[in-house]
Amino acid sequence: MRTVVLLSGTGTNFQAILDRAASGSPGIEPVGALSDRMDAQGLERARRAGIPAIAMPRGDFPDARSWWDEIAARLRALSPDVLVLAGFMRILPPELCREYKGRVLNIHPSLLPRFPGLNTYRRVLAAGDRWHGTTVHFVTEDLDAGPRVAQARIRVGRGDDEDTLRARVQACEHVLYPRVLEWMSQGRLTMGARHAILDGSDLSEPVVFEEGQLL
Ligand code: GRF
Repeated sequence: MRTVVLLSGTGTNFQAILDRAASGSPGIEPVGALSDRMDAQGLERARRAGIPAIAMPRGDFPDARSWWDEIAARLRALSPDVLVLAGFMRILPPELCREYKGRVLNIHPSLLPRFPGLNTYRRVLAAGDRWHGTTVHFVTEDLDAGPRVAQARIRVGRGDDEDTLRARVQACEHVLYPRVLEWMSQGRLTMGARHAILDGSDLSEPVVFEEGQLL
């Protein structure tokens, strides 16, 4: 499964995918990383892995249209089977969502549909929720609202702050995201009309893992 990762930052999820592909999941074939930031650490991870690292800063283009057109062309040249959003801080335009329908995944640090959007750690603490976590979902034109595939759940403790929550959630992400990609590479996971489909079953609810099951 030719896999292209889109990222804006450190790329620890990308690294977890690279590591899983290199040891134990030969079906996942990372073939490139693309970033909207020149200085994204994730691009360095791609270079180290010997795969194309493409920097596409928005500021290099006169308008959003020409920028996205070039991104689409660069992606096409990599012939991806799947696009993996891993800390990509941009919203995919509808044309790209349509071109790769059912072939774009994202990981979002909350138990969707709770807390779509930004600052999920701050918001979960302010709300006093007892549970937080992360969700892998298919990307559609509706932000953070495509069919959910899997979640990792962590208990919010009295002593938790944004940093401790982030560290625990990300440790779960590094196991969860490669696992979901593995399902896809094995032909077990597809996107249906309303829900994700895993092993022939409609996932009206995502598969939920507890922190202790993943770490
Ligand atoms: C992840 O925690 C993910 O949930 C969110 O962005 C973060 C990216 O981290 N969408 P990294 O770049 O993979 O380290």
